[in-house]
Amino acid sequence: MEILGIIGAMAVEVEALKNKMKGLTVSEYAGMTFYEGNLSGQQAVVVECGIGKVNSALCVQVLCDRFGVKGIVNTGIAGSLCNDLDIGDLVISTDAMYHDFTCQDLHPDYAVGQIPGFPVLSFPADEGLQRLACQAARTVQEGAVQQGRIASGDQFVGDRVRKEKIVADTGALCTEMEGAAIAHAAWRNQVPFVIIRAISDKADNSAEMDYPSFEALAAARCAAVTEKLAQILAGA
Ligand code: ADE
Repeated sequence: MEILGIIGAMAVEVEALKNKMKGLTVSEYAGMTFYEGNLSGQQAVVVECGIGKVNSALCVQVLCDRFGVKGIVNTGIAGSLCNDLDIGDLVISTDAMYHDFTCQDLHPDYAVGQIPGFPVLSFPADEGLQRLACQAARTVQEGAVQQGRIASGDQFVGDRVRKEKIVADTGALCTEMEGAAIAHAAWRNQVPFVIIRAISDKADNSAEMDYPSFEALAAARCAAVTEKLAQILAGA
């Protein structure tokens, strides 16, 4: 691929990738620092966008306008929404949707996540990037790799009841705070994307305890998959 954008919300999610890049050029836009260079043979821009939907959507627009990226990978950690996804396991997105967007009080026919006037409820990830991300994940990871929907919102989910509502509303495998906004912005720009997430907690009442212990492990696992994906793309 000509040039790949790689977004993580937090330093822990992008630090390892930045450190592996060669021939770095560093620039600042919208208060974010963009690291452009070569990652495992693939030209890439790595950026820490900050937590949440607005930060991540803004970041996609800068990557499209200023760097002309031809694909976007979102790497990071997530809370599990399903019993057979344990800490450290990986999720590759088939699609991503919001769990905190609702116009149901305006009209009960609007499903959670539905943006009025939009033809999609959920933003589909690029099939080629999904396939290559799965291939990368299986070379890096001994544990479970699942493909499915990701649900995003401006909420850290650490409550069993809230978790169950998100599962019922979205059917997603995991939840985090940027993926759907990145997907949405990429979709608007017609740039292919994929989300690669590693599970750091169970998004229930144990999340508060799990998260600090497993954040670094999960972030490192995802970064390793992203690096492998860059290597595969370089050879593709
Ligand atoms: N990222 C990692 N774990 C999360 C959770 N439980 N909720 C939202 N974002 C997360």
